[in-house]
Amino acid sequence: MAIKTIRGLDLTGKKVLLRTDFNVPLDEEGYVKENERIRAVLPTILFLIEKNAKIIIASHLGRPKGEVIERLKMGKVAKELGSLLDRDVLKADDCIGEEVKKKIDEMKNKDVMMLENLRFHEGEENADEIFAKNLASVADIYVNDAFANSHRDHASMTRITKYMPGYAGLLLEKEVKILSGLMNCPEKPFAAIIGGAKPEKINVIENLLKTADKIIIGGVLANTFLKASGISIGKSLFDKETVDDAHMILEKNSEKIVLPVDAFVADSLEKGTNSKIVKISSIPPESMIGDIGPETISLYKKVLKEAKTIVWGGPIGAFEFEKFSEGTNEIAMFLSGLEARVIVGGGDSGAAIKQLGIEKDISFMSTGGGAFLDFLSGKELLALKALSQSHC
Ligand code: 3PG
Repeated sequence: MAIKTIRGLDLTGKKVLLRTDFNVPLDEEGYVKENERIRAVLPTILFLIEKNAKIIIASHLGRPKGEVIERLKMGKVAKELGSLLDRDVLKADDCIGEEVKKKIDEMKNKDVMMLENLRFHEGEENADEIFAKNLASVADIYVNDAFANSHRDHASMTRITKYMPGYAGLLLEKEVKILSGLMNCPEKPFAAIIGGAKPEKINVIENLLKTADKIIIGGVLANTFLKASGISIGKSLFDKETVDDAHMILEKNSEKIVLPVDAFVADSLEKGTNSKIVKISSIPPESMIGDIGPETISLYKKVLKEAKTIVWGGPIGAFEFEKFSEGTNEIAMFLSGLEARVIVGGGDSGAAIKQLGIEKDISFMSTGGGAFLDFLSGKELLALKALSQSHC
């Protein structure tokens, strides 16, 4: 898929509509709690400033579903961006309309403006053509630097490119290059760690089986695989819908799939009652699997030590409960000490890396959650398709 990037464009005086994914976690007072997604777009913004463009940033924040929600206004995000850039970031009260256009017309070259939350308009999530056209009318060219939202068929992602020339920003370019390289020609041996609870991760496993040498499974996903292999998992959560798929995968690729051999269980994960380490074949009927046990940690480490490329998406245990976060944390720490190329994506695995403060030891942290998983499962990202067909 050929996507043109902003490199080499003459952007002097051009109004550039930069679509970012500044859908960042906020703290109780509504301040930006984690700014990685903002920092990740700084190279593109600095590039556009250097090129004397007028930079108009459009993003969504949260899921306001077409309503104006005070907490989800972009003001605090604009402030955070301003402090990272060390310059004033202008702020518009909407993302479309005459007032916004007027404000944009007053911009000088190198100015940066943040538009209001795109999802305050229903037309954004409904992929409404009129909304897309109105949004396009505020600028001269469109730049998609919102990899993390590129799986969404939303007006500012997939429709807008019909109404203005579209290019990829530097973050989008980097994400696609690294993840395509990972899926097409990883240095071998290639190991994947796929955990968490999302049932669609079975598609990721199916696709990864084409190139990966080993796939380590964790979280609720591992419970589904254990169930599929006939192991009694007590009261552990698993996904009924995908047990048959897991069974088929195990039948055809058992040598590639690595499952827990012991587990840290409890009667209730929330309360942590009756917690103990047991062999995987001896899970008590009243227990739930909360985390991997020490033998599994050693087994997973042994597999990972052999690998030259590793991709990780999804926690290994019930990471949201401190008591059951050790497996995820141990594996994260272990990854940070390896020579291998390590690529991490997804909310919880990324959170584990950040909490442990080991980001600098990870080769690449994708900004994507759902988009990262869709890419790994071989699905076409709709916004990338739209960008490749953009009339430029
Ligand atoms: C994300 O955080 O994965 C993207 O911003 C998409 O957000 P959404 O799941 O609310 O569409």
